[in-house]
Amino acid sequence: MSYFAAISYTSLTWGVYGLAIFGLIMQRLLAYTLGWTPTTKGSETTSGAKTTSRALPADWYRSNELYDLERRAIFSRKWMLVSHKLRFLDTGNWIRFEEACFQFVIVKGRDGLIRGFHNVCRHRGFPIVTEESGQSKILVCKYHGWSYGLNGTLAKAPGYQDIEKFDRDSNSLLPVHVKVDAHGFVWVNLDAKEAPEVAWEADFKDIDQKARHHSFNFEDYKFDHTWQMTGDYNWKTLADNYNECYHCAIAHPDVSAVADLEAYKVETKGGNIEHFASTTPEQEKAGHKVVSNYYFPNACMTVTTLYVSYSKVIGAKSRLLEERYGLHGEHCQKMQPRAPGT
Ligand SMILES: *[C@@H]1O[C@H](CO)[C@@H](O)[C@H](O)[C@H]1NC(C)=O
Ligand code: FES
Ligand SMILES: [Fe+2]
Repeated sequence: MSYFAAISYTSLTWGVYGLAIFGLIMQRLLAYTLGWTPTTKGSETTSGAKTTSRALPADWYRSNELYDLERRAIFSRKWMLVSHKLRFLDTGNWIRFEEACFQFVIVKGRDGLIRGFHNVCRHRGFPIVTEESGQSKILVCKYHGWSYGLNGTLAKAPGYQDIEKFDRDSNSLLPVHVKVDAHGFVWVNLDAKEAPEVAWEADFKDIDQKARHHSFNFEDYKFDHTWQMTGDYNWKTLADNYNECYHCAIAHPDVSAVADLEAYKVETKGGNIEHFASTTPEQEKAGHKVVSNYYFPNACMTVTTLYVSYSKVIGAKSRLLEERYGLHGEHCQKMQPRAPGT
């Protein structure tokens, strides 16, 4: 039942969240002061038992200090879904992204590899790119003209070639870790270490091999558009909303055409929260297949026979950014942005 999904999600996901943040910094202190011990059930699924669990303290949805802590403990450590390789078809294609107030550029190199760099010039910190996206042979800073190759290597630093001991090699753009999964989705990890402390597999092992996506060919879709919406809500509010279908029957009367709300369920494994729409054979026959996932911390994805879309929340108060890829361009272009919280 959808009601059950709502309840079980709450305890499971706060378990995941709790592990990420408490384990690192505050576990003992908060357990002591709040009398609340984080559950370690985040990687298990529950079956049947209807229980309720306490939500996070209200202030955690508002506190700037807590968001700063989350930026360090979660957004600088976890893998985040940011895009798809379909947006990087040609050499030099780049897109600027932002996660938790960290700006970075993803760019396709001459060797065909997709790399990521912080959008910060190594000279005086001016942004390397100042637009949303583009195609370049070289990345040139528009402050004093330092230029970098598509692989981040410093190419020219006007005037600096005459300076003794100036070490060009140690002034490459600062990299961010990039992984392109088997379906072509582009993930980043902003951990400053040479190898990120949290491996992609630790949270998402085999999510690109699952049977639930076998009937879709992600290469068939074409990038269509992005849209964004700004709202005064915390990023965890989107997680709360996306992962309960308790609201589906009331807020989305049309969802019952593509999902069996009585059987709808949600399962959490590591950072992967799988939604089971339990589409009936009749609904599937009519072409209504929908597969949804939430990827902790901040991205959700919906795959249907018409389009793929995913959204991420990229600030504390909060910008929702969606990328949409259509099988049938015309259909996709006619779609209107959805209302908040959908
Ligand atoms: C980066 O690319 C340039 C040419 O564009 C090449 O000379 C250099 O060796 C490359 N550096 C690395 C680390 O791959
Ligand atoms: S800040 Fe980029 S060249 Fe000076
Ligand atoms: Fe919704």
